[in-house]
Amino acid sequence: MNKLTYLKKTIYNQGKNDFYCDLNFLSEINKIAKLKGKTVLDIGCGEGRLLTLFSLIGKAKYCWGLDSAEGIGSGLDILDLFKRHIKVLGLKNIEIINEDIGNYESGNKKFDVITAVYSLHHIIKTRKNFLKDENLKKEGIALFSKIYHLLNKKGVFVIYEASKHDLKGYSKFYRKLLKASFVNYKSKHTAREYSALLKKSGFQKVYTKYYFRSYYLNKFKWVFSTPIINFFINNHYFIFSIKK
Ligand SMILES: C[S@@+](CC[C@H](N)C(=O)[O-])C[C@H]1O[C@@H](n2cnc3c(N)ncnc32)[C@H](O)[C@@H]1O
Repeated sequence: MNKLTYLKKTIYNQGKNDFYCDLNFLSEINKIAKLKGKTVLDIGCGEGRLLTLFSLIGKAKYCWGLDSAEGIGSGLDILDLFKRHIKVLGLKNIEIINEDIGNYESGNKKFDVITAVYSLHHIIKTRKNFLKDENLKKEGIALFSKIYHLLNKKGVFVIYEASKHDLKGYSKFYRKLLKASFVNYKSKHTAREYSALLKKSGFQKVYTKYYFRSYYLNKFKWVFSTPIINFFINNHYFIFSIKK
């Protein structure tokens, strides 16, 4: 079976729209952190949705997927699924690290790009505003400083999160309507909160890009893909943080 057909059938569960969205997502990351020939650490990698694309299409040099796999935000067998994808796809440049980011020690290893996609809100569990609580602020800065030190010079840390707008209760309706599984289902912090902590953690350049998913295969895509409508359905953001 063709590798991309395998991905569509397994990770994307026939959700073709999600697959095309992820290709677009990859090109957004490539604009800032060109993946070709780079080393990547994905924190909270899950079943490897991104790393398989980074390796197959982004031509990353080597990828490490780190996940505690404790059933937080995904199933307990998530890394077994990832292992199976790596085996079937014959990917020799992906390695799995079954570890909590809080305990992770890399030795002397550093990375060109580090990503955290939908995982930060699981790692720092609170919904409280970081900036209004000194202990939380310290916790956030400790995590981001650790990530800063894991990066090579000119390295980029990419965060991708949903906004605080919560459509969890309506997700079945939206999924049916949009034939796509990504809606604003859960999130805890604004880009402003994360950005303030990232700047205090050593990153010299931090900027946010709001990102609207497209509904390529929906016949009403021209409505759903407009920024105002999309804001209510699917309002996500990237934060790119650069180490000089
Ligand atoms: C919602 S899933 C996102 C998976 C993947 N990034 C994606 O977009 O498909 C969040 C992942 O973060 C992982 N996770 C949660 N807390 C973690 C921690 N402290 N250290 C490492 N991984 C963690 C979970 O096991 C889960 O697989």
